[in-house]
Amino acid sequence: MSDAAAPALIDVHGLTKRYGGRTVVDHVDLRVEKGRIHGFLGPNGSGKTTTIRMLCGLLTPDDGGGTCLGHDIRTQSRLIKRQVGYMTQRFGLYEDLSIEENLDFVARVYAVPDRRAKVTATLEQLGLATRRTQLAGSLSGGWKQRLALAACLIHSPQLLLLDEPTAGVDPAARRDFWDQIHDLAAAGLTVLVSTHYMDEAERCHELAYIAYGKLLTQGTVQQVIDSAGLVTWAVAGTNLVEVGHRLREAKGIRTVAPFGSTLHVSGDNEQAIRDALAAVNRPDLKANPIEPSLEDVFIALMQDAKDNFATEKP
Ligand SMILES: Nc1ncnc2c1ncn2[C@@H]1O[C@H](COP(=O)(O)OP(=O)(O)O)[C@@H](O)[C@H]1O
Ligand SMILES: [Mg+2]
Repeated sequence: MSDAAAPALIDVHGLTKRYGGRTVVDHVDLRVEKGRIHGFLGPNGSGKTTTIRMLCGLLTPDDGGGTCLGHDIRTQSRLIKRQVGYMTQRFGLYEDLSIEENLDFVARVYAVPDRRAKVTATLEQLGLATRRTQLAGSLSGGWKQRLALAACLIHSPQLLLLDEPTAGVDPAARRDFWDQIHDLAAAGLTVLVSTHYMDEAERCHELAYIAYGKLLTQGTVQQVIDSAGLVTWAVAGTNLVEVGHRLREAKGIRTVAPFGSTLHVSGDNEQAIRDALAAVNRPDLKANPIEPSLEDVFIALMQDAKDNFATEKP
């Protein structure tokens, strides 16, 4: 949880953005401490990119505000941009330039002091040195993403804002990428990273989950799971699809989700789950309580948010 003594690199309150009368980011409070890897989770269209753009001063909030790297996000975006490495969802590289030429180009744009040495050091740091002459356009997804990360680091930022950096990258490259992120954080860099992947969420020090523009929960993986107050059972047996349909209809059941060859059934309390299973009347099913996973919690939170969103409409 937030340690009030630790300096917050991102500290914003009530951040709000509206487009055409629709509120796409709705009073979001976010605090990210130095040296932490903060995951930013949420379904497509939930407001992650919009929030990130407000944090680095690329977009002005309609309401709320705060600081990023100690600078006001409304009035000091120039200072913020200088110290932030922002990897956009569709990062742009020059395909007909080599890895080294791409980095050298970015270093020139940022007027990086001692440019040649910095480019060489960054190539080494990210394991790109042996491929320095390869054209960016000929790289696989994983290597392109590594080059994009190098480009974000060339001006020695203090904060990395990574917007779905691993979308479409294969699992091995994703693992390498996360090892790299942890190395960078250990060296003092702070990271806010948006992602869809649950395994990545579990590798973050802290998480924030947003849906329909509203921040629904924030904390460590364990805090997020505990604060949801969800009771989850794993159900195994035959005809689980039909069982799932019937359980979904039952009172007090919040979510039913298939996980491999079992169903995860989540509710507000144990009695609700026992009653629902009794109503299904399948004594052959094997059912036992488990610790809810992060995914169970996010599915339940999103379900609640969807229900609230639907009832709020006129
Ligand atoms: N410039 C814009 N004009 C109008 N609507 C926008 C604009 N940018 C984003 N939106 C809308 O805001 C919502 C949140 O978008 P976004 O922040 O990109 O979500 P995410 O990154 O979580 O997928 C979406 O419904 C999107 O269509
Ligand atoms: Mg996005």
